[in-house]
Amino acid sequence: MKTTDVLILGTGIAGAVAALKLAQNPERRIIVITRDPDPNESNTRWAQGGIIERGPEDSADLLVKDILAAGAGASLPRAAEILAEEGPALLKDALIDIAGIRFDHGVHGELEYGIEAAHSRRRILHVGDGTGEAISTGLVEAVRSRPNIEMLTNATAVDLITYPHHSRDPLDTYQPIACHGAYVFDRSGKAIHRTLAASTILATGGLGRIYRNTTNPVGARGDGLAMAYRARARILNAEYIQFHPTTLSVPGAEGFLISEAVRGEGGALLTPGGKPFMEKYSPEWKDLAPRDIVARAIHNEMEECGYSHVLLDIATRMDAEKIKHRFPNIYAECLRRGIDITCEPIPVVPAAHYFCGGIAVDEWGRSSIASLYAVGEVSCTGLHGANRLASTSLLEGLVWGTRAARDIEAKLSAGAARIPTREEIPAWDESGLTKDADPALIQGDMQTIQNIMWHYVGLVRSGDRLSRAIRELRHMQNEIETFYRHTKLSDGLIGLRNAVEVALIVAQAARHNRQSRGCHYRVDSVDGGDRLL
Ligand code: SIN
Repeated sequence: MKTTDVLILGTGIAGAVAALKLAQNPERRIIVITRDPDPNESNTRWAQGGIIERGPEDSADLLVKDILAAGAGASLPRAAEILAEEGPALLKDALIDIAGIRFDHGVHGELEYGIEAAHSRRRILHVGDGTGEAISTGLVEAVRSRPNIEMLTNATAVDLITYPHHSRDPLDTYQPIACHGAYVFDRSGKAIHRTLAASTILATGGLGRIYRNTTNPVGARGDGLAMAYRARARILNAEYIQFHPTTLSVPGAEGFLISEAVRGEGGALLTPGGKPFMEKYSPEWKDLAPRDIVARAIHNEMEECGYSHVLLDIATRMDAEKIKHRFPNIYAECLRRGIDITCEPIPVVPAAHYFCGGIAVDEWGRSSIASLYAVGEVSCTGLHGANRLASTSLLEGLVWGTRAARDIEAKLSAGAARIPTREEIPAWDESGLTKDADPALIQGDMQTIQNIMWHYVGLVRSGDRLSRAIRELRHMQNEIETFYRHTKLSDGLIGLRNAVEVALIVAQAARHNRQSRGCHYRVDSVDGGDRLL
């Protein structure tokens, strides 16, 4: 058993920044855990495009306008204002000064700003096409160097410890729900420990892995969302799953992201026969239309014409040396797969990319459960509305990671949050768990969930498809829950139980919302919706 002031689940930008901010008070003790053996493995690591700052001839107001336009009328204006106003200074402090990240510069030392879909200005800082990797490496190194942060890898949270649920005192039934840490599965020792905390921050990232095709890493299976949901936290906007329009369509490289920055630098989408097609879907923005429009346009071209993919051409639009310099990872990965992007177009298809909904939080990252915070992709600040503006998510994680840390520090300093004692919280009960988890069952069930979500809760939805998905997912959830009750825990089993839980959350929200908006598109929309094809 461990006790700490603050328990943080997740080592991406949001969790790492929160830990670093809290660690500025040398008296604070912070535990950061991640299920992966490598703390650099997170959604942050795979972000290619970059992080928004404030570019030349740019302003906070312009950024707010772009965020609200991309969000299709469902973004919370106050969240956009906070991001636009506080973002640039916090970025400088956390990423440039503390983590020592050197963003790409021009020959005279000036910062180089990129542009992606639906941005009215160049404002995206980048490190080639490996921005996430650079940020993750810098932040994790900084976290490791702080004596008051303990980092535990290979540790999967199983469930949140909440009152009154885990309390021994019957009178706690009358208190509001509060979080006091988590039960954590030590993957090496195969044991479940209590980690008791005055405050807990969920920074567990997204859920792209519940879809067959996704840009997300294996850990993105909705663990944090599922735990918060079981603890009765409020969840918002779960129907808004953003599909990235362009991922590599080559066997063995499924889900490899071809950054939107490629189109930002002039890349164009073409049919396999070489014809541009975006103008007919978005005469104003063409290839740089908001993501939901581009992804649906590609889907429509593929479905109507029977294409297995479309093409993305940068070769005829950017000098070969510039391509290699600006997109070194994309160039190398495509070349490894037999495509030289400096002289031929890239075959691409859409894939699940980002969860715009999440655990409802306020301006300080506070969830509806006392002492439970959520930051980054697992949370819903309202910023992304129905469709996230490109390259906003890293900055959102940074801003809300900092804000949550500030709020927690204020509470701890005021003595307003306490760590429960060992006696107050029961140990995990493993009695009766006799069977070892069968990896074939886990993998088979996971693939079934991914197929259901891809076909029935994907880019194009209907009431019938969603009802079918819900029926099948409910059946699977019953099976998985029975299996879970009799089987020794493993990371795969924890993930499977969470995956089916969050798949149902998404499918139910999608069925409930009969209006097409942003990345939630229903062919049977009640009012025809907006931005349809
Ligand atoms: C990309 O580089 O296209 C992805 C960036 C993002 O999702 O914000």
